Amino acid sequence: MWFSWLKKTPVYQMQLNGNNIPVREGQSLLQAALEHNIHLQSGCKVGNCGLCKCRLLAGRVQPVPNADNAALDATERQSGLILACQNTAQSNLRLEVAETKRQKRNKAEQLA
Ligand code: FES
Repeated sequence: MWFSWLKKTPVYQMQLNGNNIPVREGQSLLQAALEHNIHLQSGCKVGNCGLCKCRLLAGRVQPVPNADNAALDATERQSGLILACQNTAQSNLRLEVAETKRQKRNKAEQLA
């Protein structure tokens, strides 16, 4: 169809750790990052492993259909953490990659 190019037009910009990444409507934030060769840790891509945790600094997101946020506890959700694999953009976004518990533990061990 002549208007099929509209579906592929990036609709929002996601700023992730200084990288500007176009995000198509309905595309998960993780998919957008990987599509543009931006390294973002990931594993399961279904909300269980928590490797794709990011902190939402600005903008609005919407969960993907049937989103599973099992990898986030209530405290993490309240502090603005989201799963990049389980959210889509609803506006331009600014995110930073969140440290995993393992990374925090490793950092604490190095300082001890
Ligand atoms: S990749 Fe596993 S929770 Fe997102």
